[in-house]
Amino acid sequence: MDITILGIESSCDDTSAAIIKNGYLLSNIIANQNVHKAYGGVVPELASRAHQQNIIPVVDQAIKSADISKDEINAVAFTRGPGLLGSLLVGTSFAKSFSLAMDIPLIEINHLQAHILVHFIKELEKEKDIPEFPFLCLLVSGGHTQIVLVKNYLQMEVIGQTIDDAAGEAFDKCAKVIGLPYPGGPVVDKNAQNGNPEAFTFSKPRIKDLDYSFSGLKTSFLYFIRDSIRVNPNFVQENMNDLCASIQFTIIDILMDKLKLAVKQTGINRIAVAGGVSANSGLRNALLDNAAKYSWKTFIPEFKFTTDNAAMIAITGYYKYLNKDFASQDIAPLARFPY
Ligand code: KG4
Ligand code: ZN
Repeated sequence: MDITILGIESSCDDTSAAIIKNGYLLSNIIANQNVHKAYGGVVPELASRAHQQNIIPVVDQAIKSADISKDEINAVAFTRGPGLLGSLLVGTSFAKSFSLAMDIPLIEINHLQAHILVHFIKELEKEKDIPEFPFLCLLVSGGHTQIVLVKNYLQMEVIGQTIDDAAGEAFDKCAKVIGLPYPGGPVVDKNAQNGNPEAFTFSKPRIKDLDYSFSGLKTSFLYFIRDSIRVNPNFVQENMNDLCASIQFTIIDILMDKLKLAVKQTGINRIAVAGGVSANSGLRNALLDNAAKYSWKTFIPEFKFTTDNAAMIAITGYYKYLNKDFASQDIAPLARFPY
């Protein structure tokens, strides 16, 4: 029997719907919200309002471009959390209504687990290397930075995580200090490609075990820029590419140090990366360099699966459907959501 899952993602500022049939992606529609650009960050109230406007057209388009009828959908999977509560409510309410109206099961999804499972999305006529269990996943997004021990599709253990800011947040906050628009990560990445990563050095935090910290880096970057501008008011403009390359190099170095330690501690050398920051070209190169140096087998997602999307929700829904892991109609979204 065919299994067709509709996935809904609305945890932050992207409204997305996707269709996955028997593990194969048929459509993945994402509506971005430009309204936040003027504010230098996501405004929760504006995000939930935009989700409300986008959700029906996005789902409609996902069903149409998958070339299926809505009667073929076996279950609807939605992001329960973590995320912005108002945004999550829109996806949750839609999924519940769809499940009731179509009389199909409802499946709740942990957004973080879903980021990791992008590595299992199959696409027609495309060969893809799929990680064997167990593997390690460096999950780096705007809200989270974790090293996850992935034991099975739905069995995961966080073995290290940030104690303050996430890596994406570090990119975005440092970008803001030098006047770059939100989200800063992609702009820093672009500028860094023409800069010298060793032009400026920033100290790395000393945090125990496999945990991370990025708030100190952000503060020392802020003070460094403030002091440099006192001496030369054009400091940022004159050194933009070098500043981006140096801050990116430091963030990646911090990420890689703990990842290397995790490989040493667990003896697992299958390394995946996921989340918005996994789009970063420097991070992707660092993973490939380390793979060659330490004989790691790396799994790097296609760009379209790095940032928030519903394909990752639908694939997680597919594995939960196989387990008959269904949610009830009284389920509520969760801003914080442990594994
Ligand atoms: O996973 P995601 O789309 O949303 C969350 O769940 O947080 O991640 C968004 C984060 C933002 O902080 C953004 O700046 C960062 O991913 N990001 C990047 C790049 N593309 C997106 N950071 C560095 N380099 C990039 N190329
Ligand atoms: Zn995300």
